[in-house]
Amino acid sequence: MTKVLITGGAGFIGSNFVFHMLENHPDYELVVVDLLTYAGNLETLKDVLDRPNVHFYKADIADREAIFELFENERPDTVVNFAAESHVDRSIEDPGIFLRSNIIGTQTLMDACRKYGIGRYHQVSTDEVYGDLPLDRPDLFFTEETPLHTSSPYSASKASADLLVQAYHRTYGLPVTISRCSNNYGPYHFPEKLIPLIISRALADESLPVYGTGENVRDWLYVRDHCTAIDRIIHDGRVGEVYNIGGHNERTNLQVVKTVLKELGKPESLITFVKDRAGHDMRYAIDPAKMMRELGWEPTTTFDEGIKKTVKWYLENEEWWKNIISGDYQQYYEKMYANR
Ligand code: NAD
Ligand code: DAU
Repeated sequence: MTKVLITGGAGFIGSNFVFHMLENHPDYELVVVDLLTYAGNLETLKDVLDRPNVHFYKADIADREAIFELFENERPDTVVNFAAESHVDRSIEDPGIFLRSNIIGTQTLMDACRKYGIGRYHQVSTDEVYGDLPLDRPDLFFTEETPLHTSSPYSASKASADLLVQAYHRTYGLPVTISRCSNNYGPYHFPEKLIPLIISRALADESLPVYGTGENVRDWLYVRDHCTAIDRIIHDGRVGEVYNIGGHNERTNLQVVKTVLKELGKPESLITFVKDRAGHDMRYAIDPAKMMRELGWEPTTTFDEGIKKTVKWYLENEEWWKNIISGDYQQYYEKMYANR
């Protein structure tokens, strides 16, 4: 039986990946590791935690002792590292924890892989490592060869980890792969991020904060399409390679907000333009040709379908996100948006 260690499995993409693996590889054993920070929610995994092939550990990936002990006991064949501090705005407020979790955490996991042996270490990186593209050059896309050029403490920490993974492959021969995906959306997305923030606030008829002019472009991918791509890479991807993941689905932030409002039947008058994010990246756009050519992957959910599914999920799972926004998150929102 293959044993896959999934870090950050109680977060947005990690939990969707746990569900994907249980549905598509029911014979695998999954070791889920998560520190359960503000972004990790065990409630998300409640229906699968008591399965005999799911083992959950609350642990910090940057805690060497805890991680080495876990490897000693579990001896995974494959590691997929989702665990990270993931919100750009938080990294602007307080970069320190991003360096610890995203960089030292990655190093710690790879050191454990070196000590105990591993079939594959997969690093979930991001398209933000490439920096941004200008709005007036729609012909430009990020390819795997685009130089890394970061903007925020978050993206700098992810790029550092990405480079470290490449260094461990070249120096120590660690069997690694790296994926760099565009913006995800879908169920279990934490309501500090644009799409779930808009859904939850619009449902309460609250103002919708759009940074700057709302012209910034993001390239959106339904979360389950990201999961199928990572599944392909860990099984058939070439060791030492980087794979871009995306579906050519660029939208301005204003277009995204208006699409969500239309789906909810809420008025555009809720939109409020607020102070821009410092260092705000203008445009992300992934060229996913390598994934399609080498691994035969392509996304299956269009943006219109994905938004419909997502809005439906948030309507049917109010308890999940209302629990989040009624707690510490309330103070977060007041602090982060007070001076915008
Ligand atoms: P998330 O914030 O929803 O989840 C992160 C999870 O990691 C949480 O469960 C948190 O508790 C856990 N975690 C944080 N620090 C930890 C630590 N030190 N030890 C153990 N667990 C820890 O983030 P997400 O949006 O699901 O992103 C997952 C990964 O995918 C991240 O590495 C992110 O950089 C990358 N990524 C995200 C997107 C996106 O659009 N969300 C796109 C491309 C890549
Ligand atoms: O591209 C991949 C990245 O996508 C991931 O690596 C990050 O982990 C993930 O958080 C996401 O980063 P973004 O900064 O693009 O996502 P966010 O949802 O924070 O913002 C999306 C866009 O919407 C961005 O241009 C900023 C804008 N925005 C965001 C918020 C929270 C607003 O206009 N208003 C808001 O309140």
